[in-house]
Amino acid sequence: MDREQQLKALEDKNAAALLGGGKARIDKQHAQNKLTARERVDQLLDPGTFVELGRLVTHDTTDFGMADKTFLGDGVITGYGRIHGRQVYVFSQDFTVFGGSLSYANAQKIVKIMQLAMRDGAPVFGLNDSGGARIQEGIRSLAGYADIFLLNTLASGVVPQISAIMGPCAGGAVYSPAITDFIAMVDQSSYMFVTGPQVVKTVTREEVTQEVLGGSITHTGTSGVAHFRVPDEAAMLGLLRELLTYIPQSNMEAPPFVPTEDPSDRLTPSLVELIPENPNLPYDILEMIHTIADEGRFLEVHRDFARNIVVGFLRLGGRSVGVVANQPAYLAGTLDREASRKAARFVRFCDAFNIPLLTLVDVPGFLPGVAQEHGGIIIHGAKLLYAFAEATVPKVTLITRKAYGGAYDVMASKHIRADINYAYPGAEIAVMGPDGAVNIIFRREIDEAEDAVARKAELVQEYRETFANPYRAAALGYVDEVLHPRETRIRLVQAFNSLENKRDTNPPKKHGNIPL
Ligand code: HXC
Repeated sequence: MDREQQLKALEDKNAAALLGGGKARIDKQHAQNKLTARERVDQLLDPGTFVELGRLVTHDTTDFGMADKTFLGDGVITGYGRIHGRQVYVFSQDFTVFGGSLSYANAQKIVKIMQLAMRDGAPVFGLNDSGGARIQEGIRSLAGYADIFLLNTLASGVVPQISAIMGPCAGGAVYSPAITDFIAMVDQSSYMFVTGPQVVKTVTREEVTQEVLGGSITHTGTSGVAHFRVPDEAAMLGLLRELLTYIPQSNMEAPPFVPTEDPSDRLTPSLVELIPENPNLPYDILEMIHTIADEGRFLEVHRDFARNIVVGFLRLGGRSVGVVANQPAYLAGTLDREASRKAARFVRFCDAFNIPLLTLVDVPGFLPGVAQEHGGIIIHGAKLLYAFAEATVPKVTLITRKAYGGAYDVMASKHIRADINYAYPGAEIAVMGPDGAVNIIFRREIDEAEDAVARKAELVQEYRETFANPYRAAALGYVDEVLHPRETRIRLVQAFNSLENKRDTNPPKKHGNIPL
């Protein structure tokens, strides 16, 4: 071959690779309102920055006539590029090639970019759209999956890993996204399950559709497996780009600082009125979060799951902050099993990746009930306690109203190493609410009183004045300042600025044993 022929051969191969499984299959993908694997990568990354690795990889399977069926790239596109100018690694499963199914060869492409990402200290984005294990390869495909699972595990806490589900994700394949930090699903066109509707029907006789069994509504609302649900693929790729703005390249770096026009000394007078004077009335903690955030921006994570706790990212004076907040507008902001594990996982993500934590507390306690106890609220609540206690990132806590019982300790109290603790003047910090407390400690006195109702009201008032306020905690130094609500943003920005260089460590160990 002369030079011209060599270059022509290269051109031909590149052209063939870019076509994936061919025009007909690409048209089918488009007809289903799905982008191709390459189009997704192009939309995810800054224009023109994608550099592909392994474009010419093919499988080496010969069974079932596979020797004659090869496609350059073998069903997954891998490489690196930039998002907001930052280096990221990406793999994108190509449904037009063997249904995006995972061969040993294409698994090695994914493993390769994950290894590069770990060495390089850069996030990994996985765009999933696959029929699962390449059936013709048998155990080699399973080996490929396990290689990826291992890398997902080793990379956990080293580089951020983000999974987009943009088509099928079934069988053991689900366990790769499940180990990553965030899962986002496209509404209607994506699903995840360990065993599909057919197998479910055979084993349990339940009849269920793919959508109900493992669609985006199920996983963002019921199971909590997925963190985000988006209406279409364009929204997905936009979300992934936005999410990255809050998180760092790796555990060795801080999240990016994003300068803001929003003044750090902006007063927040609307917060004075936000919390009703009657402690039994709800309010929406999201209003507070939007009010304090730079430009009112908040990226909520796990929005549709365990809505009694809100988690997500905002920026304060340009710094990325992870927020954990009880939501009084839902189940009165109580902590239950789901809320505890939702928040625990978020706290651990933030701690692993140097993202400071803001905790907004308005919690009447753990949710009582047989279902909660039998469902293991002890072990799930312990997850959140453990996660907050173990976290060494800057921790700032604001008690907006109620902080009762064990939930007070759990919600990033001073006692588990929060750095700066604030409370509003209306905060109630005590072992339990006034009503329950008075019923226990003054039961006989109330029973024996001539006017039991009036006596109880008096005792409740006395209890409230003695305990159900922030001043006992402030006197003991458990609260650093009782804060005027209009100064909330100012103080929070100051607090996180002051903690910029915080250093704290845990005792050396192989790893802790979080109550799973
Ligand atoms: C090889 C596959 C494949 C697979 C799909 N294809 N899945 N090839 N291995 N797992 C191929 C089809 O042969 C077809 O090839 C093309 O991909 C598109 O598939 P269609 O069936 O035409 O597409 P569609 O109607 O959209 O259905 C998509 C699907 C279905 C629902 C994903 O293909 C399907 O059920 N596939 C099998 C899913 C599955 O059971 N996988 C194994 C799960 S167990 P042509 O040449 O016609 O375009 C598993 C274990 C993982 O994954 C364990 C990890 C530890």
